Amino acid sequence: MTSSLSQPLTLPGGTVLSNRIVKAAMSEGLADADNQSTPRLETLYRRWATSGAGLLLSGNLQVDAAHLERAANVVLDDECDISALRRLAAAGKSGGAQFWAQLSHTGRQVVAAINPEPLAPSTVEIDVVRGAGYSFAPPRQMTVREIEHAIRQFACSAAKAKEAGFDGVEIHGAHGYLISQFLSPLTNLRGDRWGGHLRNRARFLLSVIRSVRDAVGPQYPIGLKLNSSDFQRGAFTHADCLEVVRMLNDTSLDLLELSGGSLEQPKVVGVALKDQGIDGPRATTSKREAYFIEFAREVRLAAKMPLMVTGGFRTRAGMEDALNTGELDLIGLGRPFIADPACACGLLTGETQMIPSPEADLHLFHLLGWFNMQLIRLGDGLDPDLSIDGPTAAARFAKLELGMMNALLARRTATGADS
Ligand SMILES: Cc1cc2nc3c(=O)[nH]c(=O)nc-3n(C[C@H](O)[C@H](O)[C@H](O)COP(=O)(O)O)c2cc1C
Repeated sequence: MTSSLSQPLTLPGGTVLSNRIVKAAMSEGLADADNQSTPRLETLYRRWATSGAGLLLSGNLQVDAAHLERAANVVLDDECDISALRRLAAAGKSGGAQFWAQLSHTGRQVVAAINPEPLAPSTVEIDVVRGAGYSFAPPRQMTVREIEHAIRQFACSAAKAKEAGFDGVEIHGAHGYLISQFLSPLTNLRGDRWGGHLRNRARFLLSVIRSVRDAVGPQYPIGLKLNSSDFQRGAFTHADCLEVVRMLNDTSLDLLELSGGSLEQPKVVGVALKDQGIDGPRATTSKREAYFIEFAREVRLAAKMPLMVTGGFRTRAGMEDALNTGELDLIGLGRPFIADPACACGLLTGETQMIPSPEADLHLFHLLGWFNMQLIRLGDGLDPDLSIDGPTAAARFAKLELGMMNALLARRTATGADS
């Protein structure tokens, strides 16, 4: 019998995905010093192009060069190098999969060394576990002009992605970045039409979707990554999520991806560091491998657009079961595509019953470093090296990131001195 994973899916705008496996967005940190795409990124995506996935999502590409998430993000703005982007898009599409660009604005969730003056809906400082050794600057509240400007920046980036040949875009509305900051009553304390009750807190998201749609035209696929909950006391809840999904039904979204958490509460990778509030652990979810699957069932009932769930899927049986029960339409996989860049092929043929989960043996503070060192290997045309230990990878990564942050700082100082 054909696996449910191998079934094609037609999106509302008519785009056909060849199967149900999606490589989720993972920030690559492989841009050059001018935040443009590089041959390393092309090599990485040429590798993933043969992974078997029906859809590849890029790591978060930034809509504003002044609001990076890390020093080596790719920026999609008016000044971006469209030929480099064209080469990247072509690399991702070279195996026949769809390749979409994920668009993001970091807002307040960025270390001070990258952005000492972050913008946010309100002046609420981030409250992260300090053990990882980073410090964060207090954000400045966005003016209405800055809000409207950010909305236009999403539209401009989407137009650039389309011009470069990406097959679609995904708006990053999850994980504590700017859109997510607007949605949460913990980070959005505004008293104007951009804050307060949920309809107002969702105004930024809905405006971004509308302006992106205007920029790319009616047929071009637009996805959204949204938290099923922030899993944090006083923040965006699952009830809020369901309400927002009903609002999204009136937009022209082609795909909704469910995730959860933020840097403060890294449920995105299955970890809780704080009180999870009213959406705390559900007994049934803890018995299943995917982190947000029980939330997906309720979203499924509310959502008119196709639903993708990302986080924790590791067995073919778990993925097929989720698809067969109709809880979702697409399976998003992140880290497995780094540890085994061809993992979708084996899942589709049935040769693979379980995909790798090296994170199980890594300390939380080493996770990012370990997976990023593997991304660098892939960008260099090498295979992943699963034998690298967590502390070594984390130390090498920290050194590299520090080097890139210092270079960024030096460039900014030089630009400031020139002007
Ligand atoms: C190194 C790394 C970078 C990530 N960068 C992004 C990103 O740029 N955008 C995003 O939406 N999610 C990002 N994520 C989250 C993944 O898309 C995914 O939601 C998460 O890894 C859980 O899925 P998994 O259990 O299959 O890995 C990142 C995850 C990792 C490990």
